[in-house]
Amino acid sequence: MGSEVESVQDVIRVRQSGPLGGLVQVTGAKNSALKLMAATVMAPGRHTLRNVPRIADVAIMVELLEHMGAAVDWLSVDGVTANSLTIEVPDMLIPEAPYDLVEKMRASIVVLGPLLARFGEARVSVPGGDDFGHRPIDMHLKALEELGATFTTSHGVIQGRVEQLLGARILLEYPSVGATENLLMAAVTAKGTTVIDNAAREPEIADLAAFLNGMGAGVSGAGGSTITVEGVEHLHPVEYTVVPDRIEAATYLAAVGLAGGEITIEGARADHMEMLLDKLAAMGLQFDDGGDRLHVVAPERPGRLASVDVSTLPYPGVATDYKPLLVALLSVADGVGILTENVFAGRFRYIPELVRMGADIRVEGHHAVVRGVRVLSGAPVRAPDIRAGAALVVAGLAAEGETVVADAHHVARGYEDLVGNLARLGANVSIGT
Ligand code: UD1
Repeated sequence: MGSEVESVQDVIRVRQSGPLGGLVQVTGAKNSALKLMAATVMAPGRHTLRNVPRIADVAIMVELLEHMGAAVDWLSVDGVTANSLTIEVPDMLIPEAPYDLVEKMRASIVVLGPLLARFGEARVSVPGGDDFGHRPIDMHLKALEELGATFTTSHGVIQGRVEQLLGARILLEYPSVGATENLLMAAVTAKGTTVIDNAAREPEIADLAAFLNGMGAGVSGAGGSTITVEGVEHLHPVEYTVVPDRIEAATYLAAVGLAGGEITIEGARADHMEMLLDKLAAMGLQFDDGGDRLHVVAPERPGRLASVDVSTLPYPGVATDYKPLLVALLSVADGVGILTENVFAGRFRYIPELVRMGADIRVEGHHAVVRGVRVLSGAPVRAPDIRAGAALVVAGLAAEGETVVADAHHVARGYEDLVGNLARLGANVSIGT
């Protein structure tokens, strides 16, 4: 996108707002829906996924499934597109993820495990760098090799083959979300028992396991560090509801922290965000957990949030995806907070944008030292990725004047209607002019 003429659709305008009030509904989790969609290729027939977010990344996964030969449709209720997808998986598929789709969305590599499981072969373009720099997939490949797959790479394409996947005990050197998912899906129809040790424990992994079990798989222990998979021969199509998006829920928590007020987040699962809620409570937000809804109250103005130190870690630690939201909150909190990034090296590209808005932040290695200021100052900024884009939008709620967030298409990759939802809570925010 050229900087001179910004598309009106590709900017989000925000003015200082608050206090917020009312109710907001979160959609299903992007990071689960994409994997469940990929997993459908393992069973021919018609699958139905409910609570699927209508976001750009899901549209790319739809394209990928269609490229392989599946028929994908959004269901409508009274003529209005609902959040349900049907995926009709034929007996034969083209087992490949081409470059143009993998390049648009790195998460496309999660088709690797399911395709190997179903067809004994898979061709997936090597993912390049992305918004967070180079992200290797060595652990995915190594784990799949331990189940018997072999890989060759040429002309930018990874080609995987296997006669019959065989169950094994696999110790992941790091609890990678993507590697755990690829391995879990491949293990479902492997012969014998697979044990995954040091598995990622994110709620989206437990959601994937529940989905696979709905298809007839024998997965136990998902959500913990050791997952056991008893291989089965046949899987069948399934109807399933995607787990709510904890990162979207956290975005509204940050919004109310920045703009003040009290809101109810429908679909927010406090039990999936415990460490984050502990940190936010220490900062001064108050919560009332209703099981599948969360009521949150910000300190009465002119009261401020208090600064805290936070480190990102694999689940159940504070997720790296929350971090831009936390930095935005700390930028107007009382005191100094240190944020330490332990998951992705150098995931700090939004910080110069917050500094343009008057935030006082110093980056030292993988630490960000944030000295809270009383108020931010609206400015033109650029969204570098999904969550950082959302963080800049909610930071704009606490900034005098107008903040114009360019490259808003990044936000649309992960949020169905961030602007509409914030506006309904009383925020002064709009798309384009
Ligand atoms: C997923 C999420 C992402 C989230 C991340 C961590 C999706 C689509 N994305 O990404 O939003 O921020 O989990 O919670 O679900 N690594 C390797 N080799 C590998 C695999 C990973 O070195 O083979 C490294 C990565 O570079 C990174 C760390 O492990 O430093 C964590 O990555 P991983 O947990 O795999 O994240 P993703 O699945 O890519």
